[in-house]
Amino acid sequence: MAKEDVFKNLIAHCKEYGFIFQSSEIYDGLSAVYDYGQNGVELKNNIKKYWWDSMILLNENVVGLDSAIFMHPKTWKASGHVDAFNDPLIDNKDSKKRYRADDLIEEHLEKLEAKIEKEVEKARKRFGDSFDEKLFRETNTRVIANKEKYDELDRRFVKAMNNNDLADLKQIILDYEIVCPISGTRNWTDVRQFNLMFATEMGSTAEGSMKIFLRPETAQGIFVNYINVQKTGRMKLPFGIAQIGKAFRNEIVARQFIFRMREFEQMEMQYFIKPGTEEEWFEYWKNVRMKWHKALGLGDENYRFFDHEKLAHYARAATDIEFKFPFGFREVEGIHSRTDFDLGQHQKFSGKKLQYFDPETNESFVPYVVETSLGLDRIFLQIISAAFHEEEIKKENGEADTRVVFKLPPVLAPVKLAILPLVKKDGLPEISRKIMNDLKYDFNCQYEEKDSIGRRYRRQDAIGTPYCITIDHQTTEDNTVTIRYRDSMEQDRVRVDKLRSIIADKVDMSSLLKKLDKIED
Ligand code: GAP
Repeated sequence: MAKEDVFKNLIAHCKEYGFIFQSSEIYDGLSAVYDYGQNGVELKNNIKKYWWDSMILLNENVVGLDSAIFMHPKTWKASGHVDAFNDPLIDNKDSKKRYRADDLIEEHLEKLEAKIEKEVEKARKRFGDSFDEKLFRETNTRVIANKEKYDELDRRFVKAMNNNDLADLKQIILDYEIVCPISGTRNWTDVRQFNLMFATEMGSTAEGSMKIFLRPETAQGIFVNYINVQKTGRMKLPFGIAQIGKAFRNEIVARQFIFRMREFEQMEMQYFIKPGTEEEWFEYWKNVRMKWHKALGLGDENYRFFDHEKLAHYARAATDIEFKFPFGFREVEGIHSRTDFDLGQHQKFSGKKLQYFDPETNESFVPYVVETSLGLDRIFLQIISAAFHEEEIKKENGEADTRVVFKLPPVLAPVKLAILPLVKKDGLPEISRKIMNDLKYDFNCQYEEKDSIGRRYRRQDAIGTPYCITIDHQTTEDNTVTIRYRDSMEQDRVRVDKLRSIIADKVDMSSLLKKLDKIED
């Protein structure tokens, strides 16, 4: 099945099984805003816990914060978001569609890259085992020509973005004959800057009201609380403040389901350090964060780093952790070296000292910051797109069948254990309820007695439940149940008193956290 179709099926599956709904669907929905349903919210909470515990429990010098979404408007002037948090937009006059100019150019770059990869794959098939990829890339004339085109465009694009040169961005689109995907024409408007922050009014009277912004990143709540946390927590450098919360951006083009939303959630950590140590901490957090992702077991080959040449207004260095989504490698998390930019700006705009006194050197200075910034909705999408499988299987009678299964990491699964009495009589529901009452304090359990056992298994596969137990007549005799494993569909007969340890072994958050501590570079 084509990747686009698999992605469409995933979106439909998320709705059908209570993971994600379009916001305000009964009013035809609100573009790029989504709600998490009964299973989605459990998965989301489990992801949050994994991130939070990995920050707070595994790092003695990282503490948490929950700052407000509304902040004093000067915050955003100081942070540079009022003046520089813009995307360049362009309209096609024929289709009346609006695009990000940088997206159009990046898509063109991706097409050139795809052409190169196609040549390489063709040659790999032609030459078989004797294929020398490096030599081929260095000598094949078509590959060289496309690589030169790519590099030339990339250089020009980076320069135009870094210089905020909107006229050249338009010229690039014209020079490279980039057409509107809808109208197919090159009838473009000029490129304009568009600020991504949402504004609203605070206060009850027109005269007394104040224009405020919905935060476009959670980080600023951390910066303005730096001195509060440092002093009240008697924190010594280096130390970190972690926060999970909503952020809002009026994205020009919102696409790919929950990948780019207008209301989303971030999990950010600002690590305050001594100036001069930023390179070392930047590398450190890059590695720690990559290990965190890989420990989920979604396939190491699906991750890569992407170093930014085009930097945000606050960053001196920036790397993305990218994941291979069904629509290609895309950013999931950013690691940014922000220097003393933010604290320095807030010190200037507020007139309050935001310095650290170093008792070892008797010096005061504004700390530098390395941040890790992960989009909760993006990692959610990463996990569900890796976990979604449409499988051909065989029924017990040998007939072909299909099943849709969410092979979620068990520790993150919304429901850990389904408790299924084989029939609704002979005391089996009562025994099942007793097992549920015993285990519900440790695991999210679901009790189901409706429909055939096969249909109940399918429903649990579809929401990613790693374990199903079936209570049958033998249970009444020897206190054993069958346990069915989601991924292999194999079944074992086990004693009821062993269930807790069997399940805990795979779904315990502390096991995952311990694994994190152990993973080497
Ligand atoms: N504090 C730094 C910061 O906000 P960013 O690269 O703009 O940096 C960080 O955003 C992360 O937030 C991204 O890697 C992405 O996962 C997530 N993110 C950003 N914009 C988003 C959007 N419109 N929808 C969903 N997630 C988004």
